[in-house]
Amino acid sequence: MNINTAIKEGAKFLKKNKIKSPDLDSELLLSKVLKKKREYVMLNSNELLDDENFKYYYDLIKQRSFGKPIAYLIGKKSFWKSEFLIREGVLIPRPDTEILVEETLKDYKFKKYANILDIGVGSGCILLSILKEKPFFYGIGIDISSKSIDLSRDNARKLGVKNRLKLIKTNVDNFCFGKYDLIITNPPYIKKNKIKYLEKDVSNFEPNLALDGGLDGTLKILGIIKKSSFLLKKNGKLVLEISNNQKIVVVKLLKQRGFYINKIIKDYAQNDRCIICTKI
Ligand SMILES: C[S@@+](CC[C@H](N)C(=O)[O-])C[C@H]1O[C@@H](n2cnc3c(N)ncnc32)[C@H](O)[C@@H]1O
Repeated sequence: MNINTAIKEGAKFLKKNKIKSPDLDSELLLSKVLKKKREYVMLNSNELLDDENFKYYYDLIKQRSFGKPIAYLIGKKSFWKSEFLIREGVLIPRPDTEILVEETLKDYKFKKYANILDIGVGSGCILLSILKEKPFFYGIGIDISSKSIDLSRDNARKLGVKNRLKLIKTNVDNFCFGKYDLIITNPPYIKKNKIKYLEKDVSNFEPNLALDGGLDGTLKILGIIKKSSFLLKKNGKLVLEISNNQKIVVVKLLKQRGFYINKIIKDYAQNDRCIICTKI
């Protein structure tokens, strides 16, 4: 079988199984199998696949047809200006989360130095993207998941920011080390009983620990706000991702704990997505 037929057959199978972008996914999976860029696969459609590669490709297509996210299958995901390594057990970075990076970089455009804490660092996508752009910023990333800490470490090595980063496996509730200019966080904020209604790619494959925000979705957020009011320096900033219906309740929690709301930013779909506030 040649590349062209393999892609067509793969896409047909994915489409039958209601996968949303069957053509793109089959191209990406074949690129993974052949260890080549997608462009190569598209430009060499007559090249023949050997048996071993065909079996590997067929296995990936089958896994994708069950809903396993493409980022877990190809082991990478683009975020901000870098490509991050991705592994199962760690949340796949979302485009909307880039807003936290964008806004932080805008706010700190003229600041040369900052000491940052990322609570729930995951793949490292937020913190490492900022460290890469600001060569005199230092960061600590914490996460309760050892898979996240290991992956963040590998990504830090890949992005060349390892020497300005410390990673600690801990529950945020037990963390009380240092004082920070800036805390960034994309906490688990989905209501516990809503997780099963998310797309099956998410609910069946992404880690519950990264999604579950307790009964009303704000359990982890509240813990982080309390902890941040202790860990931030005076006038330090908290940059927090929220779900589209949490603005009012989270603003109230922040004000109750002495934060001044600087701005609330919408995502690409015009949902409230990020709150920037100051500890006063
Ligand atoms: C929504 S994910 C965000 C991951 C990454 N920052 C991103 O934006 O892609 C939330 C992260 O918080 C971590 N987490 C959940 N509960 C935690 C806790 N109590 N203490 C520390 N980290 C926690 C999860 O393991 C997960 O990596």
